[in-house]
Amino acid sequence: MGVEICVEGLTKSFGHQVIWQDVSLTLPAGEVSVMLGPSGTGKSVFLKTLVGLLKPERGSITIQGRDITKLREHDLYEVRKLFGVLFQDGALFGSMNLYDNIAFPLREHTRKSESEIRRIVLEKMDMVGLIGAEGKLPGEISGGMRKRAGLARALVLDPEIILFDEPDSGLDPVRVAYLNQLIVDLNAQIDATFLIVTHDIASARQVPDNIGLLFRRELVMFGPRDQLLTSDEPVVRQFLNGRMQGPIGMAEEKDAAQVEQELAEIGDTTDPQHLTPRLLPSPGITRPPRWQAIAEREDEVARA
Ligand SMILES: Nc1ncnc2c1ncn2[C@@H]1O[C@H](COP(=O)(O)OP(=O)(O)O)[C@@H](O)[C@H]1O
Ligand SMILES: [Mg+2]
Repeated sequence: MGVEICVEGLTKSFGHQVIWQDVSLTLPAGEVSVMLGPSGTGKSVFLKTLVGLLKPERGSITIQGRDITKLREHDLYEVRKLFGVLFQDGALFGSMNLYDNIAFPLREHTRKSESEIRRIVLEKMDMVGLIGAEGKLPGEISGGMRKRAGLARALVLDPEIILFDEPDSGLDPVRVAYLNQLIVDLNAQIDATFLIVTHDIASARQVPDNIGLLFRRELVMFGPRDQLLTSDEPVVRQFLNGRMQGPIGMAEEKDAAQVEQELAEIGDTTDPQHLTPRLLPSPGITRPPRWQAIAEREDEVARA
């Protein structure tokens, strides 16, 4: 079913540099959430903190009733098995073919037989559309295929939670569209909890159930997709519309008066009638019950 992750009052610093502070949010079990934010706001640091690779200074991360920030290394090792992570570059071993890359976590963390491993690896490669590419080296395939291979590897231990660090970076718009559909389909099929860090506004609008935005060392907002997409918060509007006008500057923050003037000049509205439609699972994929609730909620917002 996927598990819920409850983050409360989380703060992460490196030395004197505070990356973000007092971050609180709940990733609902089985849902897809997206975390947006300008470069360098600590999105990757957030993912690494969730899997326990980095220790926060304050706050808690509760998964299945346990605060994982307080666990010792041995227990953390067990908790990490709940996670599948797709790192930014796919993080494949360059000298291993795709089959061995994808089989790696099974050989490392389980005592499964090679025939059982073969069944699982081929099943996951099929899910991400990589059948036939077993013998290819990462250097011989496209960026999009490398992402999908990284995803297959993230799936082999049947994770309850999957974290994606900029899965769309370096891909052309068509490959991004295919990857987004794959993410939506996988979520409907395996029903794990998904968190996707991305810069891609089009993806953020169509794919998730929930959206969060990190800015100026804070989590500005986190909530249901339609709530963020219709928000009046200037920074949320600027980011979701990919505009220069707003609080986010080229290199630094702008002053409040300038921001107000810019926003008055563009005079945009947040019109629920024009909410970007959500990407649905492909035909033939059984939709989990929450899809009905999502459709109803979005109808309600559109009518409001
Ligand atoms: N291990 C580390 N030690 C010190 N500083 C780090 C470390 N990892 C990340 N940072 C710093 O944290 C900030 C946020 O980085 P990152 O999470 O990669 O941003 P994003 O993914 O949002 O682009 C950056 O200023 C980066 O230099
Ligand atoms: Mg990053």
